[in-house]
Amino acid sequence: METIRLPRVMRETSIKEKRSGRTIGFVPTMGALHEGHMSLVRAAKAENDIVVASIFVNPIQFSPREDFDRYPRALSDDLEKLEDLADFVFLPEKESMYPPDFSTRVEVVGVSESMCGRFRPGHFQGVATVVLKLFNIVQPSRAYFGQKDYQQSVIIKRLARDLDLPLEVVVCPTVREADGLAMSSRNAYLNPEERKAATALYRALHAGAKAIKEGQRDTLQLSGAMRLTLSEEPLVSQVQYISAYDAETLQELETIEKKEIVLAGAVIVGTTRLIDNLLVNDLK
Ligand code: PAJ
Repeated sequence: METIRLPRVMRETSIKEKRSGRTIGFVPTMGALHEGHMSLVRAAKAENDIVVASIFVNPIQFSPREDFDRYPRALSDDLEKLEDLADFVFLPEKESMYPPDFSTRVEVVGVSESMCGRFRPGHFQGVATVVLKLFNIVQPSRAYFGQKDYQQSVIIKRLARDLDLPLEVVVCPTVREADGLAMSSRNAYLNPEERKAATALYRALHAGAKAIKEGQRDTLQLSGAMRLTLSEEPLVSQVQYISAYDAETLQELETIEKKEIVLAGAVIVGTTRLIDNLLVNDLK
């Protein structure tokens, strides 16, 4: 495994690999790697000749009030985890990604506005911008994203389609702890009591999926039922949203019809923001 810091060197390396006829699977991350990330790396390895992972805590996707400074960083552990799976790890410096006169922003309109978009203004613009830059540098054949960040995966698929990017976006299932909590680098912020309380989000989404399977078709009733589960957990200090959305457009649904639906929510536990989602596709 080789580490590369300069975008120019990464790009030249990728071009050389592709010229030799090899496919490149790419896994962009912000590090503090856990099993969720590793599942993407393994999928990339299974489906491509070469695996590139990137670790870059992207400053422009954090608002000034968010956790950029305290975001967990664990570079030597991360490199150890990647050692036997990745061929290249791209570790760009902030300065080489964003020179002082950097002026461009990429915006995927519509799908960026609902759900997390209402609570994190500018976040998805920062994500789309860095992901397009990373794609241009790494030149992947396939790029791997987690369903855990469902809205992000929809935005990246739309970006790739709209801008004719010559790659396939692959979305892999959410990896969970034994008690259902979706793995996340931010789970490291939770103290033991908060860690227990954090499962409430998954339980609420599960209660929603069960209600749909039992025939509930009214979104207000449904989100009411999900909020009730959350309200039983005193350490959930805020529910930013929890509802049913069209899995493709991410518009909130008024009624649950027979189509692809995603139940998704964002809550604050203590001071930590957690998100999760479930796809509900086997309606009666
Ligand atoms: P990060 O939060 O590090 O996540 C990197 C990738 O891992 C994302 O595609 C995310 O959806 C996936 N992932 C995280 N937790 C997961 C889990 N429990 N199961 C499956 N996949 C999981 O998402 C980002 O970084 C950034 O926004 C990035 C795309 C790198 C742009 O900066």
